[in-house]
Amino acid sequence: MRLTPEQQAILDGEQGEVLAKVMKTMVMYGDTFGAEEMVEVTGEKGHLVTSFGFGVMTAMFDLMDQLIEAGVVSKQPFTVDPRPMDKNVPSNPIMDLITKKFMYTKQASYEEQLAAVGLESKETGFTCACYFDEVGNTPKKGDILSWAESSAVVYANSVLGARCNRNSGIIDLFGSILGFVPKFGLLTDEGRKATWVIDIQTSKKPEAQVLGSAIGMKVMEEVPYVRGLDLFLGDELNQSAKDYLKDFGAASASNGAVGLYHIAGLTPEAVEQGEALIAEGAKTYVIDDAELERIEKNYPIIWKDPNATPKLAFIGCPHLSLEQLKDWAHRLDDALTAAGKKKVAVPTVMTTPEAVLRQFNGTPEAAILKARGVVVSYICPLMYMNNPLAGKMPVITNSNKLRTYTSARYFRDEQLLDRIVKGGAC
Ligand code: F3S
Repeated sequence: MRLTPEQQAILDGEQGEVLAKVMKTMVMYGDTFGAEEMVEVTGEKGHLVTSFGFGVMTAMFDLMDQLIEAGVVSKQPFTVDPRPMDKNVPSNPIMDLITKKFMYTKQASYEEQLAAVGLESKETGFTCACYFDEVGNTPKKGDILSWAESSAVVYANSVLGARCNRNSGIIDLFGSILGFVPKFGLLTDEGRKATWVIDIQTSKKPEAQVLGSAIGMKVMEEVPYVRGLDLFLGDELNQSAKDYLKDFGAASASNGAVGLYHIAGLTPEAVEQGEALIAEGAKTYVIDDAELERIEKNYPIIWKDPNATPKLAFIGCPHLSLEQLKDWAHRLDDALTAAGKKKVAVPTVMTTPEAVLRQFNGTPEAAILKARGVVVSYICPLMYMNNPLAGKMPVITNSNKLRTYTSARYFRDEQLLDRIVKGGAC
């Protein structure tokens, strides 16, 4: 890799041994992917994927101590993925004991370390949807980023037109410390070309989470160019289109490894360049109603008892926007009223960033959710599910990411709503 004199000096240790190691790591990372140079991180803020102080990750805590002792901190403030714990989320004393005494034992000290290396805010800095206006880590088109959270990377690349590879934890921090990242993959014009054309031929707007899952499983880490979705979403990136694409992208990034998609007529690069974005020899995947049904039917059910009665429902992975929270409040309220019920039959947790939660509290919709027995939390449902006892619980969700990484069972929005309202065995 060609390094500038400044980068070479860092590698040679002129700014200390610890920063030299950080640079060496990034050079090795870039070499692995054939990068020829480093480029400046131009996004104003970073975002870290590792938000949890899991006690066994001693190497990471030692690394953070070394960085802090050497004064090697991030050049930019950063946000972090959601916290793994929230006392408001239903659990039981044994689960709490496991979570606090055997799992996230280093949460408090790790958060101190994060603050010391550049975490923007311990109050509002924890969420995967850092790009929401309320949170304020919204990259601009063309910004180069050093992020790793897959749902945030795919959103930043696709909806915002920023440029970021699907990095890993710690690599995201190292890029923010150096202010440089190796240039390869989704940072290049060539790497942003679509090698798949997806033709949507469904009779109605596809469920975002199922469509994303279908495309992710088909294209894996390649770039899809999606035609026909603008018929359902319109040609304006308004809040409802952005929320749809957030959930669609997270499903494509977790069910496959998509880091960038283009939606014809809607996402910034597709609007600008149209089908010139499609690489020569791109493959085609047609998605119709039958294909989506086939995909959904093939999701494995890994509960011990497939007919169990759900004990908990999670909505909001990735975190819900303010508009989504309000929309869920009204849908749930209407459905409960129609069923003649006062409260949800399945304990339900909706998750959102703390910054959104603060705006949501005090609204009529917040009062509705409280009255109907719903908890609104800043937690990461996946981190909650890592508790072995939670893993054994019949949990239902409308998140395809949560379905993929845990034992939670997926239901489409309407089905999930029905289950939450009526309860009973699956
Ligand atoms: Fe966000 Fe946690 Fe889901 S980081 S996307 S809520 S797994």
